[in-house]
Amino acid sequence: AHLKTDFPADFLWGASTSAFQVEGAAAEDGKGLSVADIRSLEGKYLDTSVSVDHYHHLAEDVALMKELGLTSYRFSISWTRIFPNGNDSHPNTRGLAFYRRLITLLKKSGIEPIVTIFHFDLPQSLVEQYNGWADRRCVDDYVRYAKLLFEEFGSMVNYWLTINEHSLLINVPSMIGLKEENPKKLRAMAEYANYHMFLAQAKTFNLCHKLLPNAKIGPAVSYMTNLSYNHKSSDALLGKSLEDMVSFITMDVAVRGEFPTYYLRKLQEKNISLPFQPEDEKEFLTGRADFLGLNWYCTSIFRHNEQAASKMLAGVVDHIERYNDPELLHTEWGFSFDPLGLRYALQRVHDRYPHLPLMITECGWSEREHLENGKIHDQTRIRFLNDHIYQLREALRDGVNIISFNPWSFIDLLSVNDGIEKRYGLIFVDRDNLSEKKLKRYKKDSFYFYQQVIQQNGANL
Ligand code: BG6
Repeated sequence: AHLKTDFPADFLWGASTSAFQVEGAAAEDGKGLSVADIRSLEGKYLDTSVSVDHYHHLAEDVALMKELGLTSYRFSISWTRIFPNGNDSHPNTRGLAFYRRLITLLKKSGIEPIVTIFHFDLPQSLVEQYNGWADRRCVDDYVRYAKLLFEEFGSMVNYWLTINEHSLLINVPSMIGLKEENPKKLRAMAEYANYHMFLAQAKTFNLCHKLLPNAKIGPAVSYMTNLSYNHKSSDALLGKSLEDMVSFITMDVAVRGEFPTYYLRKLQEKNISLPFQPEDEKEFLTGRADFLGLNWYCTSIFRHNEQAASKMLAGVVDHIERYNDPELLHTEWGFSFDPLGLRYALQRVHDRYPHLPLMITECGWSEREHLENGKIHDQTRIRFLNDHIYQLREALRDGVNIISFNPWSFIDLLSVNDGIEKRYGLIFVDRDNLSEKKLKRYKKDSFYFYQQVIQQNGANL
């Protein structure tokens, strides 16, 4: 057999962002408000009205991508820029024009667009109309929105991602449009939302295959490496259960077209039945992913603790406690630096779905950073990129089919929970949580490092 030793010549070297985290202009040019904008107005995190103002820096930002040498760019389209209320009778032409401009600029710069259809920013109007994803009408509205994107941009976009981090999303009620005090009812509604997102995704896979036979489509799944704290089978099973419920469930439905038994059993134990309709079956049977997008950040270590009820995953996996390995470096926010964890993750996913290409849709290192004479010397991020890309190549050499690497994030942006001061970018944006200043862009040292990696196609790590 021919052994792969290097990144293939057509490997896509990218970087990643999402609409509400970079664009700003939250209510401009006809855009409607999303749940992300509402959270921002409530002060949960900073200022989607400006973000890092990518909306008004489009040409400058794409010129920076070109200078960096990117061959792909993963971004998301804002649903409410296209349909301000999520399901208006006509699309907002100014919203379409913005993305047409972006995609055209990317193509002219030799950069392959990787488009996420929905990244955390559900139209607020759909929450008000019918409780968002908990209602079946959301499926049709999402599919109609996706269909318009295929029609408008399908001739220029070869890679599509349906839903970002679906299985994490269902644990954040405000992000899927749920308002419910009773925890049992809330869990049931979250599972309805879960089902509706799966159905919307399957229908969108089918639609994409029908309308755009040359395009590829998949989910963007949150997948972290889970290790157990003790050499105990009980902890190992707990880690497995977490892996199933946070990641494999999304991949299993998207790849195998059926709901896994470990999930159905959990539902039964909680007395929840999915809002299944007979006509859905054929959608799941035929609607399958062409590749898997993985958002991978770190390795987490878990142990069983009867007293612990992990906030985020309560009800999904109970009595679980997260532990930081003192031998690993961690970000201020508790994400570990563990390149071997990435390799292990890739190999696990490959073992489960050996026929599918994998794409890293997110992976990154966050820091608080301050300009020093116009520079950011982000040595840890450079080491992070170097060591993770090195392990990516090791996985490739072991036979894992990886087609693209899109680190989080191309440019500093609003973190989902921690504002602008938790920075992931290869480019620094001069603003802070209190002031938007001039939003000037500065290339960090990691920009130049990654530029070199791309030039050498990952050869000299
Ligand atoms: C992923 C999301 O969960 O992690 C991104 O897809 C997010 O949108 C990223 O920004 C990092 O998380 P945080 O909370 O640091 O922004």
